Amino acid sequence: MSAQPERTQVGIVGAGPAGLVLALLLRRAGIASVVLETRSREYCEHRIRAGVLEHGTVDLLDALGVGERMHRQGLVHNGIYLRFAGRSHHVDFPALTGKSIMVYGQHEVVKDLIAEHVRAGESPRFDVTETRIENVTGDRPIVRYRDPNGEERALECDFIAGCDGFHGVAREAIPAGVLTTFERVYPFAWLGILSNSPTVCEELIYSSHERGFALYSQRSPTVQRMYLQCRPDEDLAEWPDDRIWGELQRRLEGDAAPQLVTGEVTQKGVTPMRSFVVEPMQYGRLFLAGDAAHIVPPTGAKGMNLAIADVAVLSRAFEAWYAGRGATALDAYSATCLSRVWKAERFSWWMTSMLHRNDRDDAFGRRLQLAELNYVVNSRAASQSLAENYVGLPFPV
Ligand code: FAD
Ligand code: DHB
Repeated sequence: MSAQPERTQVGIVGAGPAGLVLALLLRRAGIASVVLETRSREYCEHRIRAGVLEHGTVDLLDALGVGERMHRQGLVHNGIYLRFAGRSHHVDFPALTGKSIMVYGQHEVVKDLIAEHVRAGESPRFDVTETRIENVTGDRPIVRYRDPNGEERALECDFIAGCDGFHGVAREAIPAGVLTTFERVYPFAWLGILSNSPTVCEELIYSSHERGFALYSQRSPTVQRMYLQCRPDEDLAEWPDDRIWGELQRRLEGDAAPQLVTGEVTQKGVTPMRSFVVEPMQYGRLFLAGDAAHIVPPTGAKGMNLAIADVAVLSRAFEAWYAGRGATALDAYSATCLSRVWKAERFSWWMTSMLHRNDRDDAFGRRLQLAELNYVVNSRAASQSLAENYVGLPFPV
């Protein structure tokens, strides 16, 4: 027998950065929402992913009152190093844009957001299963799910926000033929590690090396995050810690190169690289946000920031609706987001293409990469363009 539906204004599927930020923005505007999440709280709080927050993301987290630990433990960065042909070149963000970025792990952001929900007595509903979205072209869309006790539940909403990531159910709830998909899959991936080892450089280092790309990043003075370009089907069993450290040393080598200090590797994973966008980001009363609608390769550190920018636009559109200002902002949601999404897609594709070894390319292609890198670090206009995109284009209004 079907359960009596519960009512809310906005049903949010997924407790990643997009869903959690959206629910807090809505609460601040007096709009009720319920967040449904298939994973456990523990899992969400320990899922290791991105680490770079644009200045606009930092400002938004501050405005939501969840920035205190981020300012205490996060690392303010004033630039990045681009490293190629054995030399490092600093791109100085404050000098070029007046702005900086924050390095603070996505799972720490998620912990802070969940803590705020719990403090307000409205925890996301974790450990639900069998989430289904129905009736999105009607006035009362429904999310059905099974609660952790195995009971069938129904959540009747005014609107549904699909914030359930790339592999979620929201995008799949839209009938075939409605969405246009734009996609590019890259012939490489990133092998990422977390290690208990000391900081060896004050900035992130993006290194384009003949052996493949490498990225040095950080999480704290004693925890480092690093990535190596690898094959998409890479078997982690073939990557014992010594091989990873050896490869990182070689790919980060050169003048004034930091001598990496090895340490215990506490996490290892392979991230595939894909560019993906669906248009539009709305169907009826279902709105897609974040990875549910678009994916970028990680080289520009844009994924989580884009997800948060989407829901900033969506919450304002819901506010306009509930304040009696009609559906104009909701109708414009997709176009407003996509304009900025495509700029981030371009930037992430460009950084990826410029920095990775591409075995399908020839020596001419490698010369072009080096020419482009040389141009970026020697032209103020070009380095300013990189910096402007890296710190984050203005949030859409
Ligand atoms: P997600 O964070 O994916 O959140 C979606 C949530 O929905 C998840 O909690 C999921 O469990 C839940 N969910 C899924 N299906 C359902 C369902 N049916 N019902 C209910 N809930 C559901 N970006 C970078 O910038 N740099 C990086 O280094 C980087 N590394 C990454 C590594 C990996 C392995 C992945 C997958 C992504 C990485 N990203 C990175 C991208 C970045 O982490 C994402 O862009 C960001 O998490 C998007 O946030 P989101 O809220 O849209 O989606
Ligand atoms: C990190 C991830 C990125 O994708 C990136 O471009 C820079 C840093 C990180 O996890 O620290």
